[in-house]
Amino acid sequence: MTASLGGKVALVTGAAGGIGGAVVRRFVAEGAEVLAADLDAAGLGRLAAEVPGVRTCTADITAADGVTALFAAMDDAFGRIDILVNNAGIGGPRVKRLHELDLEEYDAVMAANLRAPLALTQAVLPRMIAAGGGAIVNLASPAGMHAVPRVGPYSISKAGMIMLTKQTAKEYAADGIRCNAVAPGVTDTAILDGLPKAHLDQIVAMIPQGRIAQPDEIAAMIVFLASDAASFVNGSIVLVDGAAGT
Ligand SMILES: NC(=O)c1ccc[n+]([C@@H]2O[C@H](COP(=O)([O-])OP(=O)(O)OC[C@H]3O[C@@H](n4cnc5c(N)ncnc54)[C@H](O)[C@@H]3O)[C@@H](O)[C@H]2O)c1
Repeated sequence: MTASLGGKVALVTGAAGGIGGAVVRRFVAEGAEVLAADLDAAGLGRLAAEVPGVRTCTADITAADGVTALFAAMDDAFGRIDILVNNAGIGGPRVKRLHELDLEEYDAVMAANLRAPLALTQAVLPRMIAAGGGAIVNLASPAGMHAVPRVGPYSISKAGMIMLTKQTAKEYAADGIRCNAVAPGVTDTAILDGLPKAHLDQIVAMIPQGRIAQPDEIAAMIVFLASDAASFVNGSIVLVDGAAGT
């Protein structure tokens, strides 16, 4: 697969995390200029020390002033945006059945995993329309396609992310904007922290390739979808899961 992001300007959220960090490293290696955003200022500092040229912005994307600060940083650094990667997300409560959930916990997951990506999409669309196009890549999940017991808010948020992807693709295709999602299988990042080992072993036993993914294997697909090589890929939800969902 050849994919170059030379001359492109990208905003990557959740950049201090496992998949987001891998996306930033690959984007920069492929020639993109990147604004890396996260809540985690220390994590962004480590990323900036490792990846030459990357710009960073510490912001909470669930807060209106966080989104405003991000786009102020984007406008200040580059004055335009070609690519948005809606990657930031949280796992939420893992051991509760629906009737045991606090609705506040549900609201927190939906705010981070669905409302914030919509707010960021709303902010980039007028800029991309004015520029004649752009690419948005959202992080969905197989959990948004098949219900996973006891992770209801996460599954529901990722099902919403899938429809946000399709809705954006269909409404803005004529504006030259593509929107796709990657649905990673279980990937080796901090989002798995706290998952009981027995549960992880069960998951691995159901993956035909016999292992979980590494973040860079997910980032490779995100680079492709963000690049002009994917010029007719639009509204797609791409599983990267070692054949688990096949
Ligand atoms: N790891 C997996 O198995 C897996 C599988 C499917 C989908 N995903 C999705 O991939 C994406 C990245 O997850 P990851 O596995 O790299 O997790 P991670 O926990 O390593 O990274 C997530 C990052 O998002 C940031 N973040 C969370 N809420 C934020 C907010 N309100 N504002 C700004 N930043 C915020 C966190 O600080 C963190 O750095 C998520 O959307 C996740 O749902 C992960």
